[in-house]
Amino acid sequence: MKVCIIGASGKLGQYMVQHALKKGYEVVGVCREKSVKKLNRFQGRITVIPGPTSNRGVIRRAVAGCDAVLTVLVPWGMKQYSSGTAQAVLDYAEAGARLVFSCGWHISLDGKDKYSEKLLRQVKVFGRLGKMIRAVDIDDQVEAGRRIFASDTRWTVVRGSDLEEGESQGLPVWSRHVGDPVLKANLTRRVDFALFMVQALENDALIHEAPAISGSPKD
Ligand SMILES: NC(=O)c1ccc[n+]([C@@H]2O[C@H](COP(=O)([O-])OP(=O)(O)OC[C@H]3O[C@@H](n4cnc5c(N)ncnc54)[C@H](OP(=O)(O)O)[C@@H]3O)[C@@H](O)[C@H]2O)c1
Repeated sequence: MKVCIIGASGKLGQYMVQHALKKGYEVVGVCREKSVKKLNRFQGRITVIPGPTSNRGVIRRAVAGCDAVLTVLVPWGMKQYSSGTAQAVLDYAEAGARLVFSCGWHISLDGKDKYSEKLLRQVKVFGRLGKMIRAVDIDDQVEAGRRIFASDTRWTVVRGSDLEEGESQGLPVWSRHVGDPVLKANLTRRVDFALFMVQALENDALIHEAPAISGSPKD
């Protein structure tokens, strides 16, 4: 399988590269020019295409011939970075390609998620502050989700809980809705978030699902 990883140089992206290589996949990674060096340890084992992930030409070139695309959706800046990236992937991925996107719990497929006051407050404060300093546009990440959900591609949107670094604790649990007691830990190791993303490529039961994930509760 040939897999394109968009946002390969980030923390989640690098773990995804690691898991994909371990599975024997051929990997094409996309990252900003200045971040290419973060992928040095994979030199000779992956193809790197440098460029902004919202650049349609970059994405078109990167996804050509790929059976699957893993995309890290991030809400940076005020120039439709998330929705631009998502739209380019939806437009240029090969017909029938498996598409898996990452985001946070705050993006809802059907509006049936039950959010804690704390999470609602965090999203509100982070969203307002981010917009004020023109650094982060959460609304654009929500728009990216809307476009993916409306598309007729073979998509999955994996919604991450709070994240932490550390050794793998195994595949996270998931639910269709935030608020499900199974997600009560609200904490996932990034390495396991990446594992869930990569495993989703071969799990057709996750097509057209937006699993909210978390590491297992400790008690
Ligand atoms: N952080 C959390 O607590 C959290 C919680 C739940 C879900 N998530 C989701 O998990 C995924 C990964 O998030 P993460 O926080 O762990 O980050 P991450 O894996 O480190 O990824 C950040 C990505 O954003 C890129 N980036 C950073 N600054 C940028 C800028 N100014 N302009 C354009 N791109 C920029 C990075 O590229 P470079 O390598 O080029 O810098 C990298 O590809 C995201 O989809 C996020 O929504 C995160």
